[in-house]
Amino acid sequence: MVAEHVQNAPIVVASNRGPVSYRVAEDGTLTSGRGGGGLVSGLSAIGTDSGAVWVCAALGEGDRLAARRAGRRLDPADTGGYGVRMLDVPAETFAAAYNGIANSVLWFVHHLLYQTPLEPVFDAGFREQWAAYETYNAAFADALAEEAAEGAVVLVQDYHLTLVPALLRERRPDLRIGHFSHTPWAPPEYYRLLPDDVAAQVLRGVLGGDRAAFLTRRWADAFAACCADVLGAEIVRADDGTAAAVRLDGRTTLLGVHGLGADAAFLRERAHRPDVEERMAALREQVGPGRRTIVRVDRTELSKNIVRGLHAFRRLLEDHPQWHERVVHIAFAYPSRQDLAVYRDYTAEVERVAERINEEFGTPGWRPVALHVKDDFARSLAAYRMADVALVNPIRDGMNLVAKEVPVVSDDGCALVLSREAGAAAELGADAIVVNPYDVEATARALHEALLMDPGQRADRSKRLAAAATALPPARWFVEQLDALRAL
Ligand code: G6P
Repeated sequence: MVAEHVQNAPIVVASNRGPVSYRVAEDGTLTSGRGGGGLVSGLSAIGTDSGAVWVCAALGEGDRLAARRAGRRLDPADTGGYGVRMLDVPAETFAAAYNGIANSVLWFVHHLLYQTPLEPVFDAGFREQWAAYETYNAAFADALAEEAAEGAVVLVQDYHLTLVPALLRERRPDLRIGHFSHTPWAPPEYYRLLPDDVAAQVLRGVLGGDRAAFLTRRWADAFAACCADVLGAEIVRADDGTAAAVRLDGRTTLLGVHGLGADAAFLRERAHRPDVEERMAALREQVGPGRRTIVRVDRTELSKNIVRGLHAFRRLLEDHPQWHERVVHIAFAYPSRQDLAVYRDYTAEVERVAERINEEFGTPGWRPVALHVKDDFARSLAAYRMADVALVNPIRDGMNLVAKEVPVVSDDGCALVLSREAGAAAELGADAIVVNPYDVEATARALHEALLMDPGQRADRSKRLAAAATALPPARWFVEQLDALRAL
């Protein structure tokens, strides 16, 4: 048996979803799959011999089995050599914390997704889920306290784990703790939808760290505004008036902004492998010769605004018959959070609207919308490479990496129609066509303008978009945060 209190990791990362997931095959054996994303590439910057440990939750049955079999650490063969500890939180606790609080409450609040005449309702069921969220956060705090060496740096990720910084500080005051939000942060008047005690507890949880960091200045300022409004905390301002820190009860929590960028080296290499070439050939055939493409790639996520995007495309066809037979909207909408009924309904609505457009405008040789719902990263990259126009129109988004990835891998340069409510708009706004995501008419006009953009101008703008999109690659994004905490 490994001792319970090892406390030897100089760097500890905590996130709900870890870098690997397991499935149970029919014969009971476990197979593992590697996760992607900015965090994984960020961690790779510090190397496998750094002694860093990543604490994550077991998400499904396969994970729980793997976690139980592994005990303290997963098999490094499954994790790319990193030390990964997967927490075997009871399935009901996990479901209430993840589906209930994280995805149905905190996600909804930060993305302004509630239809407020009916929702939210904070009742006894909510209170049970909230208790599960506390338990789940405490399980993380316990594990982190066991793993972290004296004075270690701990990087806690996202809205699943907002209570962890404060809980961990109680257990281990010696640690340097940072929290990073990958989502937007709600403005105070919306954030106050939460029950008062919960609203305060979440803020106090994050403020328990030494630093709270965000993807853009806007979300950092909103967080500070919530702290002032809900807790009466003091906002310490930098010379330019932006919020630099929050002071409460004699403690100061620094605020940071790190605009996670695209991983150009990885994407460009990956996008030129044979499987991507094959998918490009198939997509080209589906689109038909000489036609333009408007590409979108999203999880089928309420905040991604896929339905309004389809309505905008419909409007484009209605207003500009010149595009009939000449453009195809490639829409990849990959299943997400299907345990939640609203997500299942939304997925069905996306399919219905796409089908209606095809019935209304399609001809024997032209299907205007090519909707694909089966997740396929190689095919996404293929679509990125051949996109004439990328449509990224979320209602609200922490950053949106698709907006950053498309220009990086685009073969001939693409025009980007981008929601002003995506964090990425702060960095890409100058060379994108920026739209109000609720305004279907304006989005349709932006698509038209994007399709008409002069190829030379489009290529120039696309190059500048790619440069802005890669300004802070994942490895540096990660190291910036480590350095900021180490400097304390
Ligand atoms: C998006 C968000 C992240 C979040 C993740 C969780 O990528 O930007 O903030 O952590 O979704 O997704 P999941 O599939 O794990 O619920």
